[in-house]
Amino acid sequence: MTTPRLHRRGRLAAAVGGLAAATLAVALAVPAAAAGSTLQAAAAESGRYFGTAIAASRLSDGTYTGIANREFNMITAENEMKMDATEPNRGQFSYSNGDRIVNWARQNGKQVRGHALAWHSQQPGWMQNLSGTDLRNAMLNHVTQVATYYRGKIYAWDVVNEAYADGSSGARRDSNLQRTGNDWIEAAFRAARAADPNAKLCYNDYNTDNWSHAKTQGVYNMVKDFKARGVPIDCVGFQAHFNSGNPVPSNYHTTLQNFADLGVDVQITELDIEGSGSSQAQQYQGVVQACLAVSRCTGITVWGVRDTDSWRASGTPLLFDGSGNKKAAYTSVLNALNAGGTTTPTPNPTNPTPTPTPTNPGGGSPSCTATYSEGQKWGDRFNGTVTIRATTNISSWQSTVTVRSPQKIIATWNGSPTWDSSGNVMTMRPSGSGALAAGQSTSFGFTVQHNGNWTWPSVTCAAS
Ligand code: XIL
Repeated sequence: MTTPRLHRRGRLAAAVGGLAAATLAVALAVPAAAAGSTLQAAAAESGRYFGTAIAASRLSDGTYTGIANREFNMITAENEMKMDATEPNRGQFSYSNGDRIVNWARQNGKQVRGHALAWHSQQPGWMQNLSGTDLRNAMLNHVTQVATYYRGKIYAWDVVNEAYADGSSGARRDSNLQRTGNDWIEAAFRAARAADPNAKLCYNDYNTDNWSHAKTQGVYNMVKDFKARGVPIDCVGFQAHFNSGNPVPSNYHTTLQNFADLGVDVQITELDIEGSGSSQAQQYQGVVQACLAVSRCTGITVWGVRDTDSWRASGTPLLFDGSGNKKAAYTSVLNALNAGGTTTPTPNPTNPTPTPTPTNPGGGSPSCTATYSEGQKWGDRFNGTVTIRATTNISSWQSTVTVRSPQKIIATWNGSPTWDSSGNVMTMRPSGSGALAAGQSTSFGFTVQHNGNWTWPSVTCAAS
């Protein structure tokens, strides 16, 4: 990889491609405009994911996996990656059930949210009895081991779960982990970053939905402090377990936006709403709309598939009934997703969708595809990579990258760019030979100064 080159916009003249129109084959990496007929398709229209919790014990149930596979593209292990499941005896790690879920997800082209590395609850017995430095070290070792084991397979980790107290204090929850010192949370985040630098690292909690609640403020202040001091945190998860005593707050959008404004992604991580019929449907709609209104709300996960799969089954809190039928809540969620929202980049594909094999490798008119993938993000800019893949033997290629005003491409690497007069369309050509055999690929990259617009660039490829 060469060093990024800085561009002064407009300096380079627009260049007309020398490729005959008849040889052009174009692949657009933009989502189809048609309304999505599943939750994952509808969420993808605005660049978001729609996920569910999965229990390994239910993977043999065909109705369950059928719905899960059809509707969801982000998977959380409901219990199988927790501390008691992954380290039942000190220093002895057990990943078999976690692996069953990760393997199922990856085989079906889905991403995985990791849940959860450090938590006061669902600790193995041996850990519950530890304290002080011994517990701190055991916790850090657990974070390191588990995050290392799953490195490269996790979109985001709930590094720390539920560390704040309920009620009006806005303070940390008392727990054996908290008693090891107030810095236990940041220590966990640093260990997780070192173990898996590409996973997004989240703090996850419940009862943090209402902006005026002390607990929400407590978590907000911690995240603000972490960002100010450079503690590695990328996202905040809102569990969103609602019922009549704890309804969806009317200021939910405000809460999500205020957290996002700290420079973190926000996600709804364990959504379930007790109730039925139109009242339940309306509350679900409110949650989806709150997420869609916040560009850094990157996805929603419901905490189970059918009502009967729920940890709160008696409250019928999910989107499918016990027989797997879609409930009114399902329809309201689907419609709200299809109504759209602020566009946001989709998550880093840790498990990219396989490219279909060409039917005539090496033959036919020269063609290629261009696929965009998201790179690192900062407050003011993000990196992107375009992978050019030859679907036949080609002697050269050119690719366009279109950004949306007020975005600007400020650097590129691994290619020779030219620009149209607007400066929004970059045509990238290979810096050396562009020859590729069928099935081979190459890539180039660039940095976009986003100026508040996080929309992904659209990309095309043309071959000769
Ligand atoms: C729940 C599971 O759904 C149950 O099966 C288990 O018995 C207890 O934990 N907050 C969380 C989740 O972060 O891990 C919890 O999951 C629900 C509350």
